[in-house]
Amino acid sequence: MRRTRALALLLAATAALLSRPATGDDRIGLTASIIGNQTLESANGIFKLGFFSPPGGKGAYLGIWYASIQSDPTVVWVANRRDPVVNTTGAIVTLSADGRLVIVDGQQNTTVWSSAAPTRGITPGATAQLLDSGNFVVRSDGSGSPGSVAWQSFDYPTDTLLPGMKLGVDLRSGITRNITSWSSSSDPSPGRYTFALVLGGLPEFFLFDNSMTATTKVYASGPWNGQMLTGVPPPGAKSQVGVNFSTTVFSSPEETYYTYSITNRANPSFLTQFVVDGTGQLQRIWSDDGRSWSKTKKSYPADPCDSYASCGAFSYCVYGDGQSRRPCSCLPGFKSRSPQGPFQDSSKGCARTTSLTCGDGDGFWRVNGMKLPDATNATVHAGMALEQCRQECLRSCSCKAYAASNVSGGVSRGCVIWTADLLDMREYTMVVQDLYVRLAQSEIDALNAPARRRRLIKNVVIAVVTIICGILAVAGCCCFWTNKARWKRHTEMEKSSESDDTPFRVRNSTASNPAWGQWFDQNSTGAEDELDLPLFDLEMIFAATNRFAANNQIGEGGFGPVYMGRLEDGHEVAVKRLSRRSVQGVVEFKNEVKLIAKLQHRNLVRLLGCCIDEEERILIYEYMHNKSLDTFIFDEGKRKLLSWNKRFDIILGIARGLLYLHEDSRFRIIHRDLKASNVLLDRNMVPKVSDFGIARMFEGDQTTAYTKKVIGTFGYMSPEYAMDGVFSMKSDIFSFGVLVLEIVTGRRNRGFYESELNLNLLRYAWMLWKEGRSMDLLDESIGDIFDDMEVLRCIHVALLCVDVEPKNRPLMSSIVMMLSSETATLPQPNEPAVNIGKNTSDTESSYGITDNSVTTTTIEAR
Ligand SMILES: *[C@@H]1O[C@H](CO)[C@@H](O)[C@H](O)[C@H]1NC(C)=O
Ligand SMILES: *[C@@H]1O[C@H](CO)[C@@H](O)[C@H](O)[C@H]1NC(C)=O
Ligand SMILES: *[C@@H]1O[C@H](CO)[C@@H](O)[C@H](O)[C@H]1NC(C)=O
Ligand SMILES: *[C@@H]1O[C@H](CO)[C@@H](O)[C@H](O)[C@H]1NC(C)=O
Ligand SMILES: *[C@@H]1O[C@H](CO)[C@@H](O)[C@H](O)[C@H]1NC(C)=O
Ligand SMILES: *[C@@H]1O[C@H](CO)[C@@H](O)[C@H](O)[C@H]1NC(C)=O
Ligand SMILES: *[C@@H]1O[C@H](CO)[C@@H](O)[C@H](O)[C@H]1NC(C)=O
Repeated sequence: MRRTRALALLLAATAALLSRPATGDDRIGLTASIIGNQTLESANGIFKLGFFSPPGGKGAYLGIWYASIQSDPTVVWVANRRDPVVNTTGAIVTLSADGRLVIVDGQQNTTVWSSAAPTRGITPGATAQLLDSGNFVVRSDGSGSPGSVAWQSFDYPTDTLLPGMKLGVDLRSGITRNITSWSSSSDPSPGRYTFALVLGGLPEFFLFDNSMTATTKVYASGPWNGQMLTGVPPPGAKSQVGVNFSTTVFSSPEETYYTYSITNRANPSFLTQFVVDGTGQLQRIWSDDGRSWSKTKKSYPADPCDSYASCGAFSYCVYGDGQSRRPCSCLPGFKSRSPQGPFQDSSKGCARTTSLTCGDGDGFWRVNGMKLPDATNATVHAGMALEQCRQECLRSCSCKAYAASNVSGGVSRGCVIWTADLLDMREYTMVVQDLYVRLAQSEIDALNAPARRRRLIKNVVIAVVTIICGILAVAGCCCFWTNKARWKRHTEMEKSSESDDTPFRVRNSTASNPAWGQWFDQNSTGAEDELDLPLFDLEMIFAATNRFAANNQIGEGGFGPVYMGRLEDGHEVAVKRLSRRSVQGVVEFKNEVKLIAKLQHRNLVRLLGCCIDEEERILIYEYMHNKSLDTFIFDEGKRKLLSWNKRFDIILGIARGLLYLHEDSRFRIIHRDLKASNVLLDRNMVPKVSDFGIARMFEGDQTTAYTKKVIGTFGYMSPEYAMDGVFSMKSDIFSFGVLVLEIVTGRRNRGFYESELNLNLLRYAWMLWKEGRSMDLLDESIGDIFDDMEVLRCIHVALLCVDVEPKNRPLMSSIVMMLSSETATLPQPNEPAVNIGKNTSDTESSYGITDNSVTTTTIEAR
């Protein structure tokens, strides 16, 4: 909401003895005055100074406003904001003989306001001048030198920060500069919100709400780390056309302040200001033509994550693009304080999973890309190196975290230590500073476990490579020479396609190079390698799968056949050989695979690595011993092995895996081909969703869109996706609903046919639901042991998921909550969608099964 302040200029009063400025003057001298409607105008006519009376207000105020902005008069500074001249007809401002600005009510003959007297003497040449910057400056002499400034309006901001103004604290002069909103649009007296610097450990700016008995923090800029305010996007990222901003925080023992300036003014009419308004918004507004304010502006707090400490202690806020996003997450090693259940809300903060030992048993977990926690109570040791900082932190039991205090220029210096709870953090990828959060060592070991498993795999692969190379060596040189040319080509391709160095790389002829192993070891201890994905060599894959022998094939997925592979050490893997439909180049493919490899969840199949060799694109997954879910639920014999409890756990597991893909992973993944054969079961029958993210590799980074190529399986496809190619999270949810009904009934949606009533599974389920006979749906082979309420809840949720209208289908987060809460009230389902696809000749498959009943289908729409 932009502030609108109408200016009512005053009538002139009589003050015969005082000299007055001529129209267009930018200054007054000693004993000169501005009376009533007279104004000063800055040299280039940008600002005006004079009295104004807001309509409905208490009187006249001396202020500065933009000369050229007529439509939306905007006052940037007010002298007597608490003390209006009540009788607006007789307001006078003079520069007194002692160098003070004095506002007098000419009718009452009273002084209503005066500025502080200059500490140094005033010469007869003293002036008060309005500058083009909007600064009103009292100079002790006529020299115009910077040293002559005896007083300036920039030292006493009201609610507006103009370019060049400072917001902060000057300990030498004792001046505190902050901005406070007006009480109302007719009353410039200090209002509810103040934006000010707090000189805690690290400089940080806060928006305070003064309306309570104690001022409360509403918004925080994030601590200044020498490079940026860690909670504010740098302005350069999106500067206005023709103009660049630069913002700085200057910090020295004497003075700390924030300021901004326009570094390149290609457009001379450009105006901008930063203001705290009466609604508690910090707003940057601008004008391109200098006559009216642009309709666009930037406001802070900008999103729910900007609300101060909205997630509580040891929790951080993640701002997603959808409302569905659960905004708060616990730091690693912490768990939500609010009631149990998978649908956790961390807004009440998080507590340690394992308490600190306060001795040798503690360590640190590195967090990056995060707005730093409120540093008001933090302690800074400017000269301390990071390792010392760590020791310092370990020495005190109250130390919760540490970080470098100054990362200016990308170099870490100094040390800041938090002893209070960590508050007000949010995910902010622009922050490239490591925060070290103290945890019990056992917690760190647990967090590191997946990384260690990966390291183990690496070691396994090294062993394999060594063996292969040994065999090659024995096989003779001729083999080596024929391979050499090929390898050279291969290497060149890798070089040209990689800007980053992948620490893990397997090549068939490098084992004789001792430096390689050393380099590898050294890298395997670094934390960086966790992000990198092993690249397997094609020869190794050939060996493991017996050159893709047909009898090793365990499935045929939508994107290519899947083979079971056995690495030289006996380690089993599943190898997916992608069909050559991908349009992606090597670099994009590799980046995509890396992204997908980062998606790690108990209910997702783990991608172990990939192999790229000329035309070949191969993905290597962990092998699942119990194959896919459909081999159980649709098999007369094996379905008996799945008790209701197991089925319920499987449903919940799938839901959690999907929730992660949809809402909790770094980027949103829509599976697009969820079905029983794409849910794999590990040794303990834990369900793992497979084939996720591959659609993305083929289609690029679409999340909700229209696609010409419909990838999916009849019977699981939502109507809008099958018919119009519209896919979104809601089409996955539809498939999930179908899958749940299949798990409950043990019958395929496709191929299910209630012969008497001519109904498919969805309609049959709906019919029984309406008749209150839903329990009849339950698979008879489950036996007598089950929880009625759980069964009914699953059916209820499934019916909600298969609603015709995508918008009526619940999101995965609600589904997980509904499934796991006994008390949640569920909305009534509507009649489900009509089933799509009369085709019966298709075959379905995935790795884990080859089964000729239904298949993943690619439809070229239109
Ligand atoms: C200022 O007030 C005087 C007296 O009322 C009036 O004659 C004059 O036009 C006013 N000037 C402006 C610029 O409004
Ligand atoms: C303001 O001054 C004028 C002129 O002297 C006078 O007529 C009027 O009553 C005064 N108003 C107030 C509210 O004092
Ligand atoms: C105004 O007040 C001052 C002292 O307060 C006095 O010296 C001066 O004569 C007064 N002027 C008028 C016009 O009443
Ligand atoms: C804002 O500045 C005023 C005047 O310098 C000072 O009295 C006040 O304490 C400051 N407020 C904050 C929150 O820093
Ligand atoms: C703003 O800065 C960018 C990067 O420094 C530069 O490329 C651009 O030309 C600048 N714009 C103006 C108007 O100076
Ligand atoms: C941070 O380090 C840079 C480079 O040494 C230095 O110029 C700057 O003053 C430091 N900032 C603070 C707040 O100490
Ligand atoms: C800082 O310490 C004060 C006084 O103990 C406390 O009231 C305040 O909540 C603390 N602030 C933070 C961010 O921890």
